[in-house]
Order: sequence, then C-alpha cells, then structure tokens
Amino acid sequence: MADELEKQKEYINMLEDLLYLRAGEKKPKAFVHTYGCQQNVADSEKIKGMLIQMGCELTEEKEDADIILFNTCAVREHAEDRVYGNVGALKALKKKKPSLIIGLCGCMMEQEQVVQKIYKSFPYVSLVFGTHVIHKFPELLYRTVTAGKRTVERGFDDGQIYEGLPIHRDGSFKGWLPIMYGCDNFCTYCIVPHVRGRERSRRPETVLAEAKEMVQAGYKDITLLGQNVNSYGKWLDGDTDFADLLKGVADIDGDFWVRFMTSHPKDASKKLIDIMAENPKICNHLHLPFQSGSSNVLSRMNRRYTREKYLEIANYAKSKIPDLSLTSDVIVGFPGETYEEFQETLSLIREVKFTSLFTFIYSPRTGTPAAKYDDPITHAEKAKWMDELLRTQEKIAAERCAGMVGNKYRVLVEEQAREGVLNARTQNNIVVEIKADTELIGTFQNVEITEARNWILRGKLL
Ligand code: SAH
Ligand code: SF4
Ligand code: F3S
Repeated sequence: MADELEKQKEYINMLEDLLYLRAGEKKPKAFVHTYGCQQNVADSEKIKGMLIQMGCELTEEKEDADIILFNTCAVREHAEDRVYGNVGALKALKKKKPSLIIGLCGCMMEQEQVVQKIYKSFPYVSLVFGTHVIHKFPELLYRTVTAGKRTVERGFDDGQIYEGLPIHRDGSFKGWLPIMYGCDNFCTYCIVPHVRGRERSRRPETVLAEAKEMVQAGYKDITLLGQNVNSYGKWLDGDTDFADLLKGVADIDGDFWVRFMTSHPKDASKKLIDIMAENPKICNHLHLPFQSGSSNVLSRMNRRYTREKYLEIANYAKSKIPDLSLTSDVIVGFPGETYEEFQETLSLIREVKFTSLFTFIYSPRTGTPAAKYDDPITHAEKAKWMDELLRTQEKIAAERCAGMVGNKYRVLVEEQAREGVLNARTQNNIVVEIKADTELIGTFQNVEITEARNWILRGKLL
C-alpha cells in the first residue's frame, strides 16, 4: 500500500511540469464540483489535495479551468440527471479550449451502464474513475494527459483504506472526518453498497490522530462520517466501538464540538446515547433515518428494525438528552407502499417531532432488488403524499421554533446570510440569524432567540 502511494507521488511530480506546460506555462487551474453526500465531499477534499500537490490552483469558475472534475452521486435519478445536464453543458467550453481536461468520478462511475452512456454521449469526457481508485487519480490523470486518449478505471473493491493521501479541506473551522467507508446493509432501494463496496473502518488511533490535528488547526465543528457509524469497528481487531471512538474524540483537549452521521437505527446503542448525554462536546443532535413508519415497508426495505424498535431508541435518546434535536431521512412511495402505510409514516413524524427531515420520493436504482418490485402508485400520486408529509413537518418545525423564543444558546457563527446578517448554528443543528460583524465567522458566541418566523429563527448576540 505504501508502495502504491509512493508510485502515485512520482506521477504527481511528473504532472507538475506537464500540467504547467499544458496551461501555457502558467499555474494550472482546477475546478472540482461535488454532487452527493458528505462522503463525496470528503473524497473531493482528497482529490483537491492531490491537485494542489500537482501545482494546481483551485477555481470556482469553470470558464477559467484547465481541469474540470465532477464527483458524482448515484443515489437518486435526479442526482444523475443533474450530472448529465451539467456535463452536456461543458461541450462548448471544450470547443473553446481543446486542452481542457474533463473528468468524472464518484459513485455514478461505479455503474457499468452509466460509464457506457458517458462513453457514447460525451466524447469530450477524457477521464472516468470510480470510488475505489481515488488514490490512483495522479496515475490516471497522467495517462489521460500523455496518451491523448480516454482513460477509464472503475477498479474493484480491494477492501483497503489508503491512508496518507493529502487533504485540502473546504472549510477552515467546520470539517469532515471519515471514520469508515462503504456499506454492508443492502437496503433494497439503495445503490450505495453497490458503488461504495464493503464496509471497512479506519483504525481508531488514525482517526484520533486526525481529529487532534484538526482541533490543533482550529477546527471547531468536526463531523465523523460513515454510512452507518454505529457499526464502526466491526472488522477491526480490538474492541473499540463507535461510542468509544466518539468519546475518544470528545476527550481531545480544546474548545470544539463533535457530531456524526449517519446512525442506523438497527445498530444505535443505548451506550452511544449515554455517552452523548454525558459529554458536553458531543452535539445533542442525532440524525437517525427511519425511512418509513410502517414495519411492513421497513421489512421490505431490509432495514432490519421495526417501527417499535425505532421509537424505543428515539424515545430513549429524547429522555436522556435534554434539548436533543432529532433529524431523519424518509422515503415516500416505496414500491408497493399503500396510502395506509404512508399514514404510519405521518403518525411517526407527529409522534417523534423531528427538527427537520430530508424527504425523498422513491427513485428506482438499476441493480437493486426494489427496482424489480411492483410499483403501482403513480409519481403524481406520490408527489401528493409528499406534499402532505411536508405540510405536517412544517407545522411541527414552526411549533418547535416558536417554543425556542427567549432561550439562550451557544452557537458557532458560520457564514454570511446576506448584508449585515450572519447564520449561526446551535449544537443541535438549528440555524439562527444574527446581526453581527463578519469577523465573528468561525467563533463560538452566545445568543438569545428573539423571534421565530415559521422555521427561521432570529437571535441577538449576548
Ligand atoms: N447510510 C445512510 C443513508 C445514505 S443515502 C442511511 O442508511 O441512513 C441518504 C438517503 O437517501 C437515505 O437515507 C434514503 O432516505 C435516501 N435514498 C437512498 N436510496 C434512495 C432511493 N433509491 N430513492 C429515494 N431515496 C433514496
Ligand atoms: Fe444505503 Fe442502507 Fe447502506 Fe444507508 S444503510 S447507505 S440506506 S444500504
Ligand atoms: Fe451519493 Fe455516493 Fe453519497 S451515491 S449519497 S455520493 S455515497
């Protein structure tokens, strides 16, 4: 593995000159756009790290770029369509600048039918690589540049984790820290295990060392990432589980918050909740996707928990952690779902009172079991169900926000929302608008909530 990374270093060195010349004896510019989840964002940060080592400068303007890379997501059809649309729009740029290198990577590229479509429809895409070969990006780019023909590498899941790749983090005070890769759960609707490979965990000492570096570099909000963080460590020797790892990160000296996603309800333990409750640095935010409120639908989704089991862990967390914010993912219109079963989803939403929800209409994914299930409900009908769900959740969120007026919170000031107004975030992941100077971005402050407009909160600095 070390040999492999050494080899890639050599490609990086060779590319430094090649790309410089190709850009007309100028520092080459690279544009990287990320579709999809935080896992993809974290991968893009590695790709950017490698590009910088090759002497590139990152740009936000496609028009200026010598290299354009899209890191793609395959989770729903809509995500894929956006990629196709945006790749189509690059044709004109390539015509204007024939030396432009256009590359596609990420989850979509691990699907045979997608790669074929790209091959046929987008002849100006000259580099395609999947999630399993990110560490080989320098070599693949070198092949593209020197061979003058298209390079495609999908690789296979070798079960390895390539530690030691450079990272260029997008944020300077909020950062992602992957603790594991892949997924073994095979929910029947989901493409992720097919494009990300088998679950594997990074060693606890490696994660802790990286967390420590981040804290020392001034990171204030660190999110531990994995598709199912609760099964962290399953294949490692040693007995560190996710709760232990989380506690280990929180025990690092310094003033920072740590959060995590995603928790799978089947593996969420009371031990984890207890550790969250005991530790002030662990955010009182739990993203616990339930997907459906019907045990029958959950079983057909292969989620391996029931409505009752979900409610038990959610209620335990609520009882142990005051001010806990629960958020979730939910799928509307799973194949064969009846209106009555959908009503069970609504009743679960009313019962748990989530802070916010990520809501998706079911999207069939080639190669997953559910794509072959009977799906008699039309998309238009599912969209109506979705409206009903959104109205239910909006009411809950508005009530919750109204109840927060007068409360005081510690917040992390994150970004400018508009002239004179900044967005700050509470530990439990609620955004508060405050009037303050941009100098406060990246610092912890105390605010009092003064106003709630539906689900937008305003506050004042204390
Ligand atoms: N590992 C995480 C989810 C990753 S995908 C988990 O298990 O919770 C993010 C979300 O996308 C899922 O929680 C699910 O709600 C949604 N999703 C995944 N596949 C989908 C599909 N085929 N159609 C619609 N939504 C889907
Ligand atoms: Fe997909 Fe299920 Fe794995 Fe989440 S746990 S990534 S929904 S297969
Ligand atoms: Fe999308 Fe891949 Fe994440 S499919 S949701 S980017 S793991």
